[in-house]
Amino acid sequence: MSKMDRSTITIGIDLGTTNSSVAVNVNGKIEIIKKPGGVGYTSSVFGFNKTGNKIVGQKAYEYLYKYGSKNEDKNFKAEIKRLMGTPETVFFERAKTKMTPEEISSEILKELKEDILRKYPDFDTTAAVITIPAAFSVLQSEATKKAGNLAGFKHVVLLQEPIAAAVSYGFQNAKNENWLIYDFGGGTFDIALISSKDGILSVLGHNGDNFLGGKNIDWDIVDTIIVPKILEKHQLTNFTRKNTKYQNIFSHLKYSAELAKIELSQYDKTTIEIEDIGKDDSGEEISFSIDISRSELEKLIKPTIDRTIELTKDTLKESGMKTESVKKLILVGGPTQMS
Ligand SMILES: Nc1ncnc2c1ncn2[C@@H]1O[C@H](COP(=O)(O)OP(=O)(O)OP(=O)(O)O)[C@@H](O)[C@H]1O
Ligand SMILES: [Mg+2]
Repeated sequence: MSKMDRSTITIGIDLGTTNSSVAVNVNGKIEIIKKPGGVGYTSSVFGFNKTGNKIVGQKAYEYLYKYGSKNEDKNFKAEIKRLMGTPETVFFERAKTKMTPEEISSEILKELKEDILRKYPDFDTTAAVITIPAAFSVLQSEATKKAGNLAGFKHVVLLQEPIAAAVSYGFQNAKNENWLIYDFGGGTFDIALISSKDGILSVLGHNGDNFLGGKNIDWDIVDTIIVPKILEKHQLTNFTRKNTKYQNIFSHLKYSAELAKIELSQYDKTTIEIEDIGKDDSGEEISFSIDISRSELEKLIKPTIDRTIELTKDTLKESGMKTESVKKLILVGGPTQMS
């Protein structure tokens, strides 16, 4: 590893809880590898499809959420990053296989590696930089490294996510500056105060909530807007997320809520149309449509956003830093596109 460091490695991977991406350095030019449809990220979902093949990405995500059924739950796994560094394993029923979090993560990493090789068949994949949350423990970090090795990267260099985000905004050229990196992801919120001092980049303080992310907003839309609307029109006994009888329906509602949320980042209004998801107590097909406005969504997410602001203030306070000493605030993560 002696001669290999971040500056000579030409592959950079963001291994996210919800989505992952890979960028390569091609003759000094950084390029995010796109999927065949032109999307720049891969859903971090892995499982076995109906023919028993391993799949990763959008198709796996759809198995789990869009057509989400109770049984596919047993064949697909999302959010494996949460289990990294734990001794837990995941059993995939269709394949009758038990896999460790490292093995599952390595499948995601392999997919990203294949995406590179599809575009650049001769690309050197000996080494990769993989990002990890600032809050990752030694065990979690080691598990990530192992996942990288299992995916076939002989050398893996870990890089803290807030530093990686800052570097993409030119932090390495900042002279003695402090920046705040506000990362609101799919399932986790991370805030980090970082400093560049005499060419050294470091994390001065960080906070986070591992259960605060875009997903919470999706469920808020389901619980507060969609479910009451369904119950206005249809009789459904004990219609809650916890009731396994309705798991299928709720996965689909979450999927629709997420689409609406993303649309509201661009438009002032959107309509959620639901049909073909199942029947109510009297055997009638559940169908309805709801209009949601951006201002309704903003009101709904205010407590979530307030919580992120609270954690941001705590981080400054804990490190004894005044707001005026922070030069930049960098917003990263899918939900920050709402701002
Ligand atoms: N335009 C958009 N507007 C609002 N939310 C969006 C938009 N695009 C994506 N999202 C949401 O962003 C979330 C995924 O964010 P991101 O890709 O940053 O997560 P991640 O890095 O995988 O997760 P984590 O940081 O928790 O590890 C999802 O909840 C998705 O619905
Ligand atoms: Mg992220």
